[in-house]
Amino acid sequence: MGAVAAAAGSAVGLGNVWRFPYVVGEDGGAVFLLLYVIFTALISIPIMMTEFAIGRKTGLPVTSAFSKLAPGSKWGLIGVLGMLTAFLIISYYNIVSGWTLYYSVASVSGWLDSLSEPEVTDFFSSLSSDPFRCIIWMVIMLTATAVVVAQGVSGGIEKYSKILMPLLFILILVMVVRAMLLPGGLDGLAFFVKPDFSKLTTRTVFDALGQSFFSLSIGMGTMTTYGSYLRKTENISSTAIHVASIDFLVAFLSGAVIFPCVFAFGINPGEGPGLVFVTLPNIFNQMPFGRIFSSCFFLLLVVAALTSSVSLLEVVVAYFKQSFKMGRRRATILASVSCLFFGLCCSLSQAVFNIFDNVTANIMMPIGALLIVIFAVTRIKREDMRAELEKHGKPFRLFNLYYFLVRYVVPVVIGIIFINGIVAWLSK
Ligand code: TRP
Repeated sequence: MGAVAAAAGSAVGLGNVWRFPYVVGEDGGAVFLLLYVIFTALISIPIMMTEFAIGRKTGLPVTSAFSKLAPGSKWGLIGVLGMLTAFLIISYYNIVSGWTLYYSVASVSGWLDSLSEPEVTDFFSSLSSDPFRCIIWMVIMLTATAVVVAQGVSGGIEKYSKILMPLLFILILVMVVRAMLLPGGLDGLAFFVKPDFSKLTTRTVFDALGQSFFSLSIGMGTMTTYGSYLRKTENISSTAIHVASIDFLVAFLSGAVIFPCVFAFGINPGEGPGLVFVTLPNIFNQMPFGRIFSSCFFLLLVVAALTSSVSLLEVVVAYFKQSFKMGRRRATILASVSCLFFGLCCSLSQAVFNIFDNVTANIMMPIGALLIVIFAVTRIKREDMRAELEKHGKPFRLFNLYYFLVRYVVPVVIGIIFINGIVAWLSK
């Protein structure tokens, strides 16, 4: 499998289609988008390259890469932090995957057909406020994830997703066109792309950084593990840029569908985690063959969610296997049952769900990322890093810029945003 396709499979998921639009909507629209682009280019891409380089250099997954490069030190804790982050993400991620699965079943069955706008909103709130249904659909998605991981067939799933993800992409493109043509659609687009700097807050900056990490699956060692599969001939810098561009494009296009609809149908952009679900059924209702589009869209999104969920559970299972010397099956069962427990807490309480969502993206991933870059500049020699990034045989012309970013810009910026963000978050 192509390196870009494999890493993009982990990166592209609910983070792009579900999380990105809702956070943009809560955080003032285009200002958030602008910050998101800046952070992705200057902070996240260099971090992804660093993770890839560490993984390839050691040939080891995150659970052992750091301890190999710094034996006897505490740096191996980066792997533990990554495992905990993955663990908490799966717990609420599968609730959203469950909603998505429910929506695909509802689309196929025609339950979403010709609902009026308030009915679409009620449809979602009756689902999200019904723990019983949330749990059932979450359990189905979590079980599917566990079966794939236990059988060790994630490669097979990724092969399908290599065909299905471009389809999802095309579908989103069609939806963008339809959304733009809605009356009021262009106001929505303006909200999304024309920055209003009066909406800039500490919170916006904090969330934009967290969303960029979440969407690219960085700061928790997943990309270190992917790096260990990279061949010597692969160009790390261009792989990272490609993955980030694909990921950004999917997120951007999702926003370009959602916000025109939000404005056309009079939905509150700050609606929160339900935004996608109260918005999209309205546009499918206005499309010819809407029911088919809707069914395909939600099914493809289920696949995207499943591939991300599988690679999250892999992180936890790898850790259990190694630390407790367990077999793959046992480790998978233990990991998924524990995730189920935390998942139950998230489905019973909106507050717990929000805390998990915020703490993983905005706190745990930035800490992980910060530790990874500090490790890279203190424990790996500059020339060794250069050698790793140039292993495919061509000089990396931007190496000095890369190193400057990783050494100074990334840690300082993460540090400042992080501390301010925490203060703002606590005093909210
Ligand atoms: N990036 C994924 C998404 O956008 C979510 C995610 C975060 C993830 N960290 C990860 C997926 C680690 C796999 C592995 O949906």
